[in-house]
Amino acid sequence: MDEADADMWKGTPLFPDSASTMAGRVDALYFFLIVVSAFFSVLIAGLIVFYAVKYRRRSPDSVGASFHGGMALELTWTVIPFFITIVIFVWGASVFFAMSRPPDETLNIYVVGKQWMWKFQHLDGQREINELHVPVGRPVKLIMTSEDVIHDVFVPAFRVKADVLPGRYTNIWFQPTKPGRYHLFCAEYCGTRHSGMVGEVVVMDPSEYQTWLSGGAPEGSLASAGARLFQDLACNTCHRPDAQGRGPVLEGLFGKTATLQSGETITVDEAYVRESILNPSARVTAGFQPIMPTFQGLVTEEQLLELVEYVKSLQSLPPVQTR
Ligand code: CUA
Repeated sequence: MDEADADMWKGTPLFPDSASTMAGRVDALYFFLIVVSAFFSVLIAGLIVFYAVKYRRRSPDSVGASFHGGMALELTWTVIPFFITIVIFVWGASVFFAMSRPPDETLNIYVVGKQWMWKFQHLDGQREINELHVPVGRPVKLIMTSEDVIHDVFVPAFRVKADVLPGRYTNIWFQPTKPGRYHLFCAEYCGTRHSGMVGEVVVMDPSEYQTWLSGGAPEGSLASAGARLFQDLACNTCHRPDAQGRGPVLEGLFGKTATLQSGETITVDEAYVRESILNPSARVTAGFQPIMPTFQGLVTEEQLLELVEYVKSLQSLPPVQTR
């Protein structure tokens, strides 16, 4: 497509803006599927019309010839579609895997959906509703959950879309490629005002983004809000860093493997921390008693995210300065 063609499509509602590193790959696959489908649709429709005319009944008493297939023909129309579907499968899988595996270093932002709004929490403590500010050129990971029913985040310009489910965390990631404002939709029918559950992603230059970041956050970072909550809820009486508490030491735990009473091992991720707060006896760490009370109903989804972020922040003690 040359410059003029690209301009021709600009502003047409046929395709949304493409503003992420994934957009080009998703579109290429999509175009391929359209071309393959169009080619075979036209071919088959054309052949039907052509043969209908060619072998039409010419006199009232003519009888059709009987016909018993041919091996070559059978093989051709089996083998060609087979290879085409394999190409679609391999190509589709590679795009799917790229979309579902975020890079190691991402800017993490928490998303809570509720009837009928999107709430965003930045690690530095900024909170936004129905508007999400992100810097251009950096991979961003959204860690998402819902307070009530199933919602679905959809940003057409980034070609990303994923369900947002109550009771668990789902992720999407994208790397914006150009500054601008892009539509954000809820793409799962979630009640009366589903159609109003829309917002905007604001992609900014990194310097502008820094300015924006430093403009807000009176309450401090998410992790520090989590630390305060950890004290307020008296979690610190049992989860003590000195291993003398009645609960496991949380320092350095996140991302590690833990052994459960059942002998099973699990990775300590966001979902496990969340579950351990809401339903502590579900999967108890080996060597501990199931004595922790549930905090179901005592903490909101947003507070849960603060606690998760606090546990994440307990990675290690600050390195000792040696000279
Ligand atoms: Cu939320 Cu539809």
